[in-house]
Amino acid sequence: MKEKAYFVCTNCGYESLQWFGRCPKCGEWNSASEIKAKISKQNRAVVLSLREAKKSAETINRLSTGFTELDAALGGGILPGQVILLGGEPGVGKSTLALEICNQFSRNGLETLYVAAEESVDQIAIRSQRLFHDDPEKIMVCSENDLEQVVDLLNHNYSLLIIDSLQTMYSPQVGTYPGSILQIRTCAEKIIERCKELSIPSIIIAHITKSGEISGPKLVEHLVDTVVYFEGERNTELRVLRIMKNRFGPSGEVAIFEMTEDGLKQVINPAFYDTEDQLPGNCLTCAVEGSRTFVVQVQALVSRTKSAVPRRVSNGFEMTRLLLLLAVIGRHMHLPIESHDVYVNILGGLKITDPGIDAAVVGALLSSMLDKRIGGMSLIGEVSLDGSLKHVHRLKSRIEAIRKVGISSIIIPRTAELKEEDIQKISSVRELGRVLGVT
Ligand code: TYD
Ligand code: MG
Repeated sequence: MKEKAYFVCTNCGYESLQWFGRCPKCGEWNSASEIKAKISKQNRAVVLSLREAKKSAETINRLSTGFTELDAALGGGILPGQVILLGGEPGVGKSTLALEICNQFSRNGLETLYVAAEESVDQIAIRSQRLFHDDPEKIMVCSENDLEQVVDLLNHNYSLLIIDSLQTMYSPQVGTYPGSILQIRTCAEKIIERCKELSIPSIIIAHITKSGEISGPKLVEHLVDTVVYFEGERNTELRVLRIMKNRFGPSGEVAIFEMTEDGLKQVINPAFYDTEDQLPGNCLTCAVEGSRTFVVQVQALVSRTKSAVPRRVSNGFEMTRLLLLLAVIGRHMHLPIESHDVYVNILGGLKITDPGIDAAVVGALLSSMLDKRIGGMSLIGEVSLDGSLKHVHRLKSRIEAIRKVGISSIIIPRTAELKEEDIQKISSVRELGRVLGVT
């Protein structure tokens, strides 16, 4: 094995073969730390025919997490050697989920190693008492944050490794404190290398702050096979697992959970709407996240501002998109919405990334501003800068989902190639205003 030295900025992770006094990327002084990487020389590169590779891939079994929704979102379960980064804010339920997955493995007779670097073994035992009544004989727990010791512990007996959490792991070979970018990267690299060697799947837990500020977990995203983010507000029970990246299945998939008194329960058909008498400021639509459709209710409150800078608050809908929609309403509908305080909320606590709900957000804003009910009407479409309504993907499934909840009056973009009697087509937000009777 050959050793190669390079320098990494302990502040931002910048790499260079030469020493630097000041990091050219982040500007930090004296942040260069020397890393000695071992380069193993493999004897010979292996060439396989794709047909052979395909055959051997077909024989590999995916392991179940115990949650059918999560298995489906991962593309059928966990593969041997798969490295999953599980990110989320503190308190969202990452440790709970990891322990429940261990329990499922244990039920199937598979031994797992849970490295509780931030909690004591007793704390894990108390949590397991709360979560399940099975005998957790096959769940091995170790409260250790020295990475070298954990790597030494790993062997073929284990079918899953949990690292809880990456930020508390510590490699004595790296001279910085746990949680530093260099520690995070080194620990992740070593865990991944060992798990791949032994073909043990692993779930590496990482904390993320509310604004997603911590760059540590982001820095290791390219090293892992799958990146999963656990989202949810502390004051609601709803939890959403979002697959951000997946080398072994589709990305963008979601699985919905509920945090209950005795653990996480998957929610098969979540309802994020209320079809009862709709007051002004509400609008129903259907969002697509991954391969799933969700009927959602957009709520808006538009009120005359009393301050120099109007307030904009958005829950579950991206702020930059909201600002764009407000500008479109102001410019193309000639409404003074920019001088109003605006609050937008997606009912149920779901975060929607799909722009196909734009038309419904505009609908809810107009409905609130002009105090008019939209009633049992649903709007689908993406709004573009010129005020036109753009076609959205999976339109048919969206319409189907909306009809299932008993709404028959649906508005879609004119460009859609769909001809159905009870569906109205419009081309712009201006026309939307006319149809809703607000402009
Ligand atoms: P936890 O898994 O510790 O979160 P994380 O590892 O992401 O920091 O769980 C956090 C919260 O979940 C905690 O406030 C208690 C609550 N909880 C339940 O509501 N039900 C349960 O069965 C468990 C184990 C926890
Ligand atoms: Mg935890």
